[in-house]
Amino acid sequence: MGWNSWNTFGHNINETVVRETADVLVSSGLKDYGYQYIVIDDCWSVKDGRDSHGDLVPDPEKFPNGVKALADYVHSKGFKLGIYSDAAEKTCAGYPGSLGFEDQDAHLWASWGIDFLKYDYCHAPLFDQAVAIERYTRMGKALRDSGREFLFSLCEWGNQSPHLWGRKAGGHMWRVSGDVFDSWINIWMKDWNTYGIGIDVSIDIANDLHEYGGPGGWNDLDMLVVGLKGKGQIAGNGMSFLEYQTHMSMWVMACSPLMIGCDIRKLDADTASLLMNREVLDVNQDALGIPASRVKQIGRCEIWTKRLADSGLAVSVINRGSRGEDVTVKARDIGLLDTPKLARNVWAGQDVADFRTELPLRVEPHETILLKVTQ
Ligand code: GLA
Repeated sequence: MGWNSWNTFGHNINETVVRETADVLVSSGLKDYGYQYIVIDDCWSVKDGRDSHGDLVPDPEKFPNGVKALADYVHSKGFKLGIYSDAAEKTCAGYPGSLGFEDQDAHLWASWGIDFLKYDYCHAPLFDQAVAIERYTRMGKALRDSGREFLFSLCEWGNQSPHLWGRKAGGHMWRVSGDVFDSWINIWMKDWNTYGIGIDVSIDIANDLHEYGGPGGWNDLDMLVVGLKGKGQIAGNGMSFLEYQTHMSMWVMACSPLMIGCDIRKLDADTASLLMNREVLDVNQDALGIPASRVKQIGRCEIWTKRLADSGLAVSVINRGSRGEDVTVKARDIGLLDTPKLARNVWAGQDVADFRTELPLRVEPHETILLKVTQ
């Protein structure tokens, strides 16, 4: 759990934003909910190259005090600091990448006190799995040899099945798709000459790959778009409150890392309610770490389940269609016996029903009802 600069700030990242974000993570209470990593994405270094020692250089205009001082500040507030690079000559935004400099860069970041690396895959061969494995493995080893503990986040977008080799390459999480935009459906991003992934599609990817995620190696559905409301670097069409809630519910169910992408210095009450719900976050952080899967489809509605460490069952009922629907959750569909059980609405924090065999629900368009069922 944490925050990443890209979705809102893109190229306009700087040390003031990072410091203020650390401050607000504390003052808003987000820190107490477990948001821990503060990650500086692309565009942090001098763009036209390395220094005379071959080192990456923080852009002096964006980071006048350097990254080490920033890491010290972030650590003093109880957070960890993340940084970004790319397994090729250049990053996605055209800044120097780390190919051929893995050890040197890992040591430099370690000397600054960096705790997390997001490692992208722009300008690298798109359809050569062996090369991808080799490049990520090399950086994984460099991080391990750096003398500092790093969380290694692979950002290969899923083209070469990092869910199959990410752990072996030293990765702790791997992106499973291209960039998720602030949109329910995929959208054509003219400026980027590519499709932005919408939430509706991510839901299918989460189901396809559910068995590959787990403790120590997580399917990463991408940074959260909660709270963007059509603004920022990856602005899409924006979404309704229920759609953002579905987005959050499904990232939680899928055990995806939860990296906030909005400007939390301007946190509104709706967004805060989605990011700071203890019972919801407990489902994401559950000790078993079993990503949810779809167990039933009823027209455009779906029932997903996720087994929890306290022997409860998280159940999400999603309506992906555009009309409100009545859905009946049957005990046998979610793998439970016809014995008494309690259903708790996790978003509302309320016990909603005692049932044995069937639980009728009304689910609005694009809504997800998140339940915890205890037998
Ligand atoms: C890629 C990644 C994004 C972001 C940008 C930065 O598109 O998938 O998450 O890091 O690069 O340029």
